[in-house]
Amino acid sequence: MASRLPPGPRSTLLSTYKALRAPYEEYRKWVEEYGDPVTIPALNGTVVMTGDPAAVKQIFAFDPQGFDIFAAETVKPLVGERSVLLVTGAHHKRLRKLMAPPFHGARMRAYGQIMIDVARRHLEALTPGESAPIQRVTQAISLEVIVRAVFGFADPARVEESARAMVETMEAVHPAFLFARALQREFFGLGPYARFTRARDRGYALLDAQIAECRARPEGREDILAMLMAARDEDGEGLSDAEIRDQLVTLLIAGHETTAITLAWALYWLHRDDEARARLLAELDGLGDGPLEPEAVAALPYLGAVCSETLRLNPIVPDIIRVLARPMTLKGYELPVGVGVCPAAALVHQRPELYPEPDRWRPERFLERSFGPSEYLPFGGGHRRCIGAAFAVYEMKLVLAVALRGHLLRLVKDGPIRPVRRNITMAPEGGVEMRYEGRRAE
Ligand code: HEM
Repeated sequence: MASRLPPGPRSTLLSTYKALRAPYEEYRKWVEEYGDPVTIPALNGTVVMTGDPAAVKQIFAFDPQGFDIFAAETVKPLVGERSVLLVTGAHHKRLRKLMAPPFHGARMRAYGQIMIDVARRHLEALTPGESAPIQRVTQAISLEVIVRAVFGFADPARVEESARAMVETMEAVHPAFLFARALQREFFGLGPYARFTRARDRGYALLDAQIAECRARPEGREDILAMLMAARDEDGEGLSDAEIRDQLVTLLIAGHETTAITLAWALYWLHRDDEARARLLAELDGLGDGPLEPEAVAALPYLGAVCSETLRLNPIVPDIIRVLARPMTLKGYELPVGVGVCPAAALVHQRPELYPEPDRWRPERFLERSFGPSEYLPFGGGHRRCIGAAFAVYEMKLVLAVALRGHLLRLVKDGPIRPVRRNITMAPEGGVEMRYEGRRAE
């Protein structure tokens, strides 16, 4: 069969603009108009997108060697060329094996107390009567969790310094860098790219010092940095300092905003739905008056459903793209090497036969039935599924428990909020403005 791409919109500029501006709606419209799969010509490559679980399953099960990275050059300056996000084949498999253990089971649960303490401190610092975007608070929480649990900074002054350096680096990233490589240039040390590299290099220097300290005194540490340093592959080889630094930056970039944005959405939905909030509070109050016990919180079914439903309705990575390094037959189309394939959570999560009334936020649906990996993909899937998925959900549950059990928040505006693009992820426009009403009487 000759190579043939599915039909789709023609204009590269317009499609790129639409995919950046309003992917949730535009993807749906494209599939309605052209069918599934649909070909989207984008500025950084042609992408064949699907929301059909059978096709998603096939993509996730495809030989990992048959994939390259989409738009690798554009993210390289941010995460470093040795990042797990950018390596492929055997190298990627090895890195994942070395990185995965701290994110599972008892190892990961060791960070539960850090998550609770950090959330409590940031919420208690709010002033009653004041309004602010709640995403600013959840972002400060998820950043500090990474700085402490992943990087292993413990001294408050160094936590603060490191968090500030990371924020400055991320704030200096202009979304255009990620979509247009030509802008990744310094103009005699001036311009946004130069500003970004200066901020990034300050952040890198702090991480390098932390790595050196961990090499010198590895004993008694529980952070993910120490575990990455101790990890060995089948040949007894570990990671170099440069490899470790790129993974630390990657974990920060992949894990910080993602978790914070999802938390902001969860707080938004919970405060628009009095019944759901009351049900969650009843579940939390059932834990008793003592200090929050991370494992008991993580086992609460309705809290779990709240997190799952938020990630379904607001998949903050709406499109997971891989580039074909080998041809693939997808739903009768022979897709050639070089084309991107994209399982779109934004489409799958809107299928009414899986999720009746898909636009409604209804956590109960996750208590009524379970969903397979090709039906529910907020964390992607296959050989690149998010390493931090369990860590993120654990953190979401603990932060929501601390916030709801101990504090009163109210939405400043009760209406719908538009999801807008922030670099690769989608976030609530304005960060969900909320008013802090003070402590909740327990
Ligand atoms: C709600 C929060 C999060 C969401 C929605 C999310 C989502 C995703 C998605 C969609 C991918 C791409 C998966 C694919 O290509 O199939 C991914 C990859 C990744 N995530 Fe997450 N993530 C979250 C939190 C985290 C956290 C907390 C960490 C670590 C601290 C993390 C670390 C990573 C890493 C390292 C990868 C790259 C995996 C690879 O390429 O092999 N993520 N994440």
